[in-house]
Amino acid sequence: MPHKIALNFEDGVTRFLDCLDGEKIADAAYRRGVNIPLDCREGACGACKSHLEAGRVRMEDYVEDALSAEEEAAGMILTCKSTPLSDCVVRILSASTACFSRPQEALPVRIAALRPVSDSGFVLSVEGESLAALDFLPGQYATLTVPGTAEQRAYSFSSLVDRAANRVEFLIRRVPGGLMSGYLAERARVGDALQLSGPKGGFYLRPVVRPLLFLAGGTGLAPFLAMLELLRGRGDTQPVHLILGVNREADLVAEARLQAFAAALPAFTYTTCLATPEAPHPRTGFVHAFITPEHLHGGDVDVYLCGPPPMVTAVERTLDGLGTRPAGLYYEKFLASH
Ligand SMILES: Cc1cc2nc3c(=O)[nH]c(=O)nc-3n(C[C@H](O)[C@H](O)[C@H](O)COP(=O)(O)OP(=O)(O)OC[C@H]3O[C@@H](n4cnc5c(N)ncnc54)[C@H](O)[C@@H]3O)c2cc1C
Ligand code: FES
Repeated sequence: MPHKIALNFEDGVTRFLDCLDGEKIADAAYRRGVNIPLDCREGACGACKSHLEAGRVRMEDYVEDALSAEEEAAGMILTCKSTPLSDCVVRILSASTACFSRPQEALPVRIAALRPVSDSGFVLSVEGESLAALDFLPGQYATLTVPGTAEQRAYSFSSLVDRAANRVEFLIRRVPGGLMSGYLAERARVGDALQLSGPKGGFYLRPVVRPLLFLAGGTGLAPFLAMLELLRGRGDTQPVHLILGVNREADLVAEARLQAFAAALPAFTYTTCLATPEAPHPRTGFVHAFITPEHLHGGDVDVYLCGPPPMVTAVERTLDGLGTRPAGLYYEKFLASH
């Protein structure tokens, strides 16, 4: 039986849909041109996570990293896996403005520069006339095809689009044995053709109305670099603190860029920490260990976190433990490819 779905967006906009018999909520939204955050469509990435405010759904199998048991108990659903069993009200964790334009598919781009950063990763810069029409919110990501294969990998934009050169950057960690990592390390050449699809995802910088705390694990720094570029361009004055955690000293790949942001944005400060206990660094331990009450401004703070799933979970637990509920909490998990 068809059911009515009300989609409530973060910015107060509501959109109504008819969901056909047996149709998933995400498919119904796409059929009507409402591009709610979506990536794998297989219950593996968590991009489509939303809050079921009223009604009942049947959810097919999904991966626990995409939706934890606690999140499900709190009423969260994956819209790509949920078929309504009644009329429903679903809160989409994104603003309507981010959902009413379709991501662009398979834009032709070429490698403009590829810079290895120590042995742990790469800064990949791609360019192409097709990027002239690309618009994204800092924090969102694109998928890139691995040349010579039909495989795609997700990467957060680590810069805004340089409009003069139609160029954009990604910060990519080298994963031993990884398909994209292997291509970048061994075969990639300036001028190689790739396809870029995006923008995707509901992780992006909301209107900045209070202090910000950015928490990054490894290349989870990438979306924050794009956000900081935007803040610098606007001359934003809200306090911003970033805690960046990496495994080894060699992984502190973007410190020069962070120093440049700190010089240009008087209210921006950052802390780095290394996971390895014996590392020669003033702070060893995981990101969550360096969050202090001072960073939380008594709860009047928007917290953004991005990194591997265990980091996201550890930070959520730490925030619970500190007993301060931030006004806003947004995260992106860098899940392995699915
Ligand atoms: C929304 C989103 C945004 C992302 N943004 C970025 C980004 O900005 N920068 C970035 O470097 N990565 C990012 N990732 C991860 C990225 O999409 C790939 O998963 C990663 O680069 C590995 O791809 P690969 O082809 O090199 O390895 P694959 O061929 O996919 O993997 C090879 C092997 O390594 C394992 N593996 C894959 N990824 C990891 C990992 N991260 N840690 C440990 N083992 C792993 C796999 O399980 C597999 O066994 C993002 C992921 C998501 C979902
Ligand atoms: S799009 Fe639903 S879990 Fe990936």
